[in-house]
Amino acid sequence: MNKDFLALSDWSLDDLEAIFSLTRELKKKQQEGTPHHLLEGQTLGMIFEKSSTRTRVSFEVGMFQLGGHALFLHSGTTQMGRGEPIKDTARVMSGYCDGVMARTYSHAALEEFAENSYIPVINGLSDLYHPCQLVADMFTVTEHKEDYRKLKYCWIGDGNNMANSWINAAAVAGFELRIATPKGYEPDSKIVSLAEKAGAKILLTNDPREAAEGVDVLNTDVWASMGHEAEQEERMKAFGGFQINSELLKLADPEAVVMHCLPAHRDEEITDAVVEGKQSIIFNEAENRLHVQKAILATLMAR
Ligand code: CP
Ligand code: NVA
Repeated sequence: MNKDFLALSDWSLDDLEAIFSLTRELKKKQQEGTPHHLLEGQTLGMIFEKSSTRTRVSFEVGMFQLGGHALFLHSGTTQMGRGEPIKDTARVMSGYCDGVMARTYSHAALEEFAENSYIPVINGLSDLYHPCQLVADMFTVTEHKEDYRKLKYCWIGDGNNMANSWINAAAVAGFELRIATPKGYEPDSKIVSLAEKAGAKILLTNDPREAAEGVDVLNTDVWASMGHEAEQEERMKAFGGFQINSELLKLADPEAVVMHCLPAHRDEEITDAVVEGKQSIIFNEAENRLHVQKAILATLMAR
């Protein structure tokens, strides 16, 4: 496995399944109250350029449960916020911490940080990808369905960091993925073509009904991600028909499950009834961020 985890495309299927297996083990230990201090005395530095609830809390609690410590750094209150070069910060933090998790706007900045670090660097969401979320999402599917690799998945909404990560996931795990976005909001075309070259079966459409027909797993995310708040009004118009609601859900397999990385804007990209409905596995998905990330931390930071 690579030193860093910046994108799911960094991993093989074996890497992914090893993380699932350790996640199952650690989740069981956590639920039984059995100590699992795999990172005793280690420190994770957590750098945030953007807001977070789940990522911050699950990484911080996860490090505590692994016997280590996590340090929250809002980038604006560090010297990085005053222009200290990324490469200098990366080298300095490598001398203090055992790993870094960073949430950035620019994915290139995250790559530069990782290249200049001597310790593992984990992507806690960039404008391009949200890989930890995807591992938690796929793991959650394995808890609800047989053979996650044989299922049909759809993405309804913005071709954003989450959609790009689902495309990488389809390449690594080899499942069928359909993506419905409004025109002009398609996912990154380079990521799509690399995934297709790696054998991924991806359908891109501007019709949410075509994407949802007969699928086993439906996914969506906010219409205006962090950094796009100023476009909220124009996006509300563009994304009007791209809501996961009970009507769209009727087109999917009757046993289909619905996912959302959260935070959700209820009654925009997904109705309140679907979030609270029987087919929603959204809150299991959120909890699994903790269990999956502990497995990722324990694997990358193992001494
Ligand atoms: N899903 C997710 O990453 O949530 P936060 O923005 O709250 O961390
Ligand atoms: N696409 C969203 C995900 C938040 C977890 C964003 O980037 O804001």
